[in-house]
Amino acid sequence: MSSKTNMNRRSFLKTTGAGLATILSEPVAAALAQQAALKKTRLAVIGTGIRAIDMWGKDILRDYSDSVEFVGLCDPNPGRVEFAKKYIGATCPAYTDFDKMLTETKPDKIIVTTVDAYHDGYIIKAMQAGCDVITEKPLTTDEFKCKAILDAEKKTGQICTVTFNYRFTPHRAKLKELLNAGEIGTVTSVDFHWYLDTSHGADYFRRWHRLRSKSGTLLLHKATHHFDLLNWWLDSDPVEVFAYGALEFYGKNHEFRHTNCRGCPHKDNCPFFWDITKDDKLMQLYVANEQYDGYLRDGCVWKEDIDIFDKMAVQIKYANNVQVSYSLTTYSPYEGYRIAFNGTKGRLEAWIKERQPWTEPPSDEIRLTHNFGKSQIINVPHTKGGHGGGDMRLKARIFKDPSLPDPLKQAAGTRDGAMSILIGIAARNSIDTGKIVRIADLTDIKPQPKRPV
Ligand SMILES: NC(=O)c1ccc[n+]([C@@H]2O[C@H](COP(=O)([O-])OP(=O)(O)OC[C@H]3O[C@@H](n4cnc5c(N)ncnc54)[C@H](O)[C@@H]3O)[C@@H](O)[C@H]2O)c1
Repeated sequence: MSSKTNMNRRSFLKTTGAGLATILSEPVAAALAQQAALKKTRLAVIGTGIRAIDMWGKDILRDYSDSVEFVGLCDPNPGRVEFAKKYIGATCPAYTDFDKMLTETKPDKIIVTTVDAYHDGYIIKAMQAGCDVITEKPLTTDEFKCKAILDAEKKTGQICTVTFNYRFTPHRAKLKELLNAGEIGTVTSVDFHWYLDTSHGADYFRRWHRLRSKSGTLLLHKATHHFDLLNWWLDSDPVEVFAYGALEFYGKNHEFRHTNCRGCPHKDNCPFFWDITKDDKLMQLYVANEQYDGYLRDGCVWKEDIDIFDKMAVQIKYANNVQVSYSLTTYSPYEGYRIAFNGTKGRLEAWIKERQPWTEPPSDEIRLTHNFGKSQIINVPHTKGGHGGGDMRLKARIFKDPSLPDPLKQAAGTRDGAMSILIGIAARNSIDTGKIVRIADLTDIKPQPKRPV
């Protein structure tokens, strides 16, 4: 992995100005640093779907236009990329050809927000063209593509940041702080169970995520977040994985189906009927551009081509001997997760309720219990913004000042990206073969009891 550090205008002003001052007179050094720093980071985006246009588009222009500029937007769908440009308010050219965009716009950084299975090709091409990369999770969808990304990063010396926004949610950072402080002694095991509801969970079965060839299954697409959290909280690498998984609810498991919700003859008796026509933004982003690629955003959750699991149970053994029981369910009546860390001196647990039909609590509760002691409730107030404020904090780290101290090690690179997907890949392989899968057999990365910095 590259040792090159990320730098933006603000940190450049601080560090380069100080460095130059040792060989040049201070005013000259400051002027040179100022001049260099006036150059904004040239950003380009590949894959202008919903994640790109708000999180990595409109919001970046609103919050960071003093230090970054969009020089190109690209998507194979010509209608969607034109809508994205208008929606974001960017003045740069729109492309359907990535190579052309790279050659003509010479970006400093590429943001990769395509369908998961295509991340690898763009990450590698961008690094080979001398660009750093900010990629959405999951890093990629199989071990071969993962190895190719790691090799390309090593060869080119470019940096690839993986955007694990979940690490930046306040209650998850608090859990990390408590674990780091040794509140429950040495962690020995973890119970981690994630519930997606019949709205958010079902949405993965409507579109490309429903296909293993596009998303790698939810063990990659969704659980990469959860596996990354585990790796980060435990500060160790996974070594062995065993899993079960099945498709028993969505897809073929139903008596009727249609292509998509609009025009469905079963809409009056399907609890999963979803009317996309009520959402103007989604109509413009997806429906207006179906003519170019046939992407149906309101696809039927009962389609027979669905080939991902809708229930998954995974056992993970870590290099520091922690054992984890994890599960993911995709059709719960409400959404959230339960986690418990069992340690030699106590237990740390939380029942995080998201998107519930009843009233939202103003804070998340963490319960800390020392052995032979009383339970203590720690309240972590909710903050505004996507993913519990995680999206905003992640962007501040990337665009405001990457050189800021990172005591909880929330910034993530390709090793973190790889280690989280390797658990998902191992789990998928284990479900397919019925065997235990060793992480060390998947790529060249050797799992360590304590993760390397
Ligand atoms: N971190 C998070 O919390 C979070 C949340 C949502 C999405 N995501 C990630 O963001 C990415 C985009 O997700 P989305 O919800 O915006 O999906 P989306 O379907 O809205 O957008 C995907 C875009 O990729 C384009 N595309 C399809 N095939 C392509 C190809 N071969 N080359 C380039 N582009 C191609 C599509 O035309 C579409 O515009 C995914 O990797 C997803 O995992 C992350």
